Amino acid sequence: MTYLPGDLIYEGKAKKIFTVQNRADLLWQEFKNSLTAFNGVKKGEFDIKGQLNRDISAIIFRYLKNHGIRCHYVDALDSNIMITQKLKMIPLEVVVRNKAAGSLKKKFDMPEGFDINPPLVEFYFKKDELNDPFMSDDHVVMLRLLTYEQIQKLKTTSLEVNKFLKKFFETVDITLVDFKVEFGLSEAGEFVLGDEISPDSCRLWDKATGEKLDKDRFRLDLGDVKTGYNEVSNRIKKVYGEKL
Ligand code: TMP
Ligand code: ASP
Repeated sequence: MTYLPGDLIYEGKAKKIFTVQNRADLLWQEFKNSLTAFNGVKKGEFDIKGQLNRDISAIIFRYLKNHGIRCHYVDALDSNIMITQKLKMIPLEVVVRNKAAGSLKKKFDMPEGFDINPPLVEFYFKKDELNDPFMSDDHVVMLRLLTYEQIQKLKTTSLEVNKFLKKFFETVDITLVDFKVEFGLSEAGEFVLGDEISPDSCRLWDKATGEKLDKDRFRLDLGDVKTGYNEVSNRIKKVYGEKL
């Protein structure tokens, strides 16, 4: 299938989104080399970042699709393009946590790596101007984003995604500490996984050494960012295949 980009409709911190010519049902997503942290306050970039995140995301979406999870992924083109199903995005960041780190560790003064069992699902309102604030279920209903019934469904789906992702990363000797996902609604009104799943949106620790291989390297100045992302990509490609 040949796809051609149409108009630029949105530019975010890590991606540019275009229409696809003659395909109103699809989007053309270009993964950028830039990365930001703390709501865009800290900025950086490295040469193959867009390509690595596209590759990692594509492999993960294909894995999840094979396990029955609805994902927006359609195809991967060139070095940093992903063709996706167009969705009506829900303005929520859904975070799932298996171990304490980041904002949760800070909020409750927990030891880093403390096991969270059962895993925790949290919602954040996707609004840069407000710094993506935490939301309770009641807040989500108050803003008419979802019904209580839909919230339950979204939590169940997110925990299922966690179960498959944990297994996916365990196979390459990586501990999935936590991650953020975003969902949209299909024409048929079903929840579909959108956005990306990459070292930008997951905390990934080497199982043997605990070394951080994700965006915390950039957030916390822990060492070369590209080395971490490359390590994740190489391990995944060795097991799940190079072909994109
Ligand atoms: P947090 O501990 O900072 O709340 O982050 C939880 C997870 O969500 C972590 O894997 C990083 C990811 N995340 C994003 O993908 N985007 C964001 O804007 C934030 C704050 C976190
Ligand atoms: N994604 C946010 C930003 O781009 C925050 C983060 O990931 O730390 O600034």
